[in-house]
Amino acid sequence: MKKHQVTKDTRLLHGGDYNPDQWLDCPGIIDQDFKLMKQAHTNTFSVGMFSWASLEPEEGVYTFEWLDDIFDRIEAMGGNMILATPSGARPAWMSQKYPEVLRVDALRRKQLHGARHNHCFTSPYYREKAQEMNRKLAERYGKRSSLLMWHISNEYGGECHCDLCQTAFRDWLKVQYDNDLDKVNQSWWGPFWSHTFTNWEQIESPSPIGENAVHGLNLDWRRFVTDQTISFYKDEIVPLRELTPEVPITTNFMSDNPSFTPFRALDYSKFAKEVDVISWDAYPAWHNDYEETYELASKVGFMNDSFKSMKQKPWLLMESTPSHVNWHQFNKAKRPSMHYLSAMQMLAHGSDSNLYFQWRKSRGSSEKFHGAVVDHDGSTENRVFKEVARLGKAMEDLSEKVVGSQRIAEVGLLYDWDSDWALEHTQGFGLQTKLYPETLQKHYQSLWEKDIPVDVITKENTFKDYKLLVVPMLYLMSEETVQRLKVYVANGGTLVSSYITGLVNEHDLTYLGGWKKELQEVFGIEPLETDTYYTSDSNELTFNNKQYAIRDYATIIDVKEAEVLAQYEGDFYADSAAVTLNNYKDGEAYYIGARAEDDFNRDFYSHLIEKLDLSPGLKVEHEIGVSVQGRILDDGTSIIFIMNFTEEEQAIEILEDVRDSFTGETLSGDVSLKPYEVLVVDKNN
Ligand code: GAL
Repeated sequence: MKKHQVTKDTRLLHGGDYNPDQWLDCPGIIDQDFKLMKQAHTNTFSVGMFSWASLEPEEGVYTFEWLDDIFDRIEAMGGNMILATPSGARPAWMSQKYPEVLRVDALRRKQLHGARHNHCFTSPYYREKAQEMNRKLAERYGKRSSLLMWHISNEYGGECHCDLCQTAFRDWLKVQYDNDLDKVNQSWWGPFWSHTFTNWEQIESPSPIGENAVHGLNLDWRRFVTDQTISFYKDEIVPLRELTPEVPITTNFMSDNPSFTPFRALDYSKFAKEVDVISWDAYPAWHNDYEETYELASKVGFMNDSFKSMKQKPWLLMESTPSHVNWHQFNKAKRPSMHYLSAMQMLAHGSDSNLYFQWRKSRGSSEKFHGAVVDHDGSTENRVFKEVARLGKAMEDLSEKVVGSQRIAEVGLLYDWDSDWALEHTQGFGLQTKLYPETLQKHYQSLWEKDIPVDVITKENTFKDYKLLVVPMLYLMSEETVQRLKVYVANGGTLVSSYITGLVNEHDLTYLGGWKKELQEVFGIEPLETDTYYTSDSNELTFNNKQYAIRDYATIIDVKEAEVLAQYEGDFYADSAAVTLNNYKDGEAYYIGARAEDDFNRDFYSHLIEKLDLSPGLKVEHEIGVSVQGRILDDGTSIIFIMNFTEEEQAIEILEDVRDSFTGETLSGDVSLKPYEVLVVDKNN
């Protein structure tokens, strides 16, 4: 095993969700599947995520035979099984007999049976029943040589407001607040609008028809939902850890769509600690009409690097589509070569797989027109199948180098769920223009355009290893975070932050007495007021003799020790500081007071790249839209992916000597990349 390998297989994993139980009544289909799997150069299948009704059609009656057969066939082809636990969707008999498994929404309406991903996370029956099913799966398949990994449930998410969950929430609060209701009232600013609670039973989860103005409560509810989901997951894995301790466990994470921002519903920085391998499902809307292809590619990079940074290890792309999905507003086909390019981008950012949803397109119900490797025609001659097979072959060729190789970054960009949640419900600023994760994406993009690898971290990560730490709009900061940032700069780090930072503590209570003294010391300034712009307002700032448009926010800054790097051009604060730099002990801290156009970010980060000598994995001259990203092998060499995310041919210049990873041919100097073309090269460091 290589040092950072995340599964026992040394191959890149290619395959995906396979739902053979949809086809048990269609003779010949499963035989055909296994023939086509070889032709598509696939090796790994995730099975069973929605199979509860096929595994236990009646309470206590089990029908594992079809799954035994799939294991046999996968083993015969030398493939891997990622076995899912089926809790993501329940059989109807269960909802009928045990209605406590049904979710209650925020309006307190009990949901009917149907769809999926909608069970109560507290229900003792559902927890027990999921454990029982998982035990049976582990007993039956735990020793199978093809069992590569456990896939727990599917895309955990959502929340339940039933009575069981209300009690669990109150119990959770009692633990957080040492059983002291006064502490709760103080932390939630109780006397405001007479919201003081005098017994625990008065506390309910937030609701549009009930309590929704107590921000501390909103925040704690979000935290509880994460903890309760993780607690459900931990119950699910008890029998798996007991019976198959050597088999790694994952659950498939997500991004929000179509923004490609972090999945807001659950704090994955906590969840990540509980899984062995990080995996996620990525469905970018390539070729959309609202952003350039390269802008979307940068957002995909941002999410990939966030999942990579959760464990600082390779991760798995658990789901993607070989063609289109069925749930975007417009479900556009991937243009020729886009599938290959998009999959290579995943490998470049640390994935050890390219897995699909799904292997074979369903015949009926809501996913019958969702893209799949095998279409309704069952043919190997269509464009999608051929592109999948081409990719599969290339992945076989790259496996030895890519699997288990690492990504190293000198820059950390911090995303924080608490800040995102708190800002979302905060009334103030521009209600539609807070755009916290979107702002992080913009900062990331400026570094991505220059091929500088970035770790998208959370406050769970350590800061000290980064030459540059970027923490824009970190609205919520506990005393501990303030202290950690201070130590980071004092010890020589370079910190960048911005408007709407450090305003409240972990209960969403504002700090009193002005901006925190520690932050004032580090940044050498005090932000006094945040001016919020209408979208029709305009202003500019001047940085290095160049003017840049600003929008949404401008902070009026009282400069104490800092040097002024940019000034506002207009309004009553014209000529005052817009961007500052402070030397604090051995480090430096930049404060960006306004939301500026992309060109400002580009120039600002170009300046920092030079100053801090931040290096890309490979030096390549190119226009915006080409991305150069890569990984380092155990022997110290690199594998680098040079990717053209534009619709035009791109002339690039490779400034170092490299070899084509497929042919071994030496490359350097001027090279032309066709639209969506990828070059994969090896580099000695
Ligand atoms: C995912 C889900 C899959 C499938 C897919 C379609 O979110 O996990 O089961 O529904 O979306 O894009």
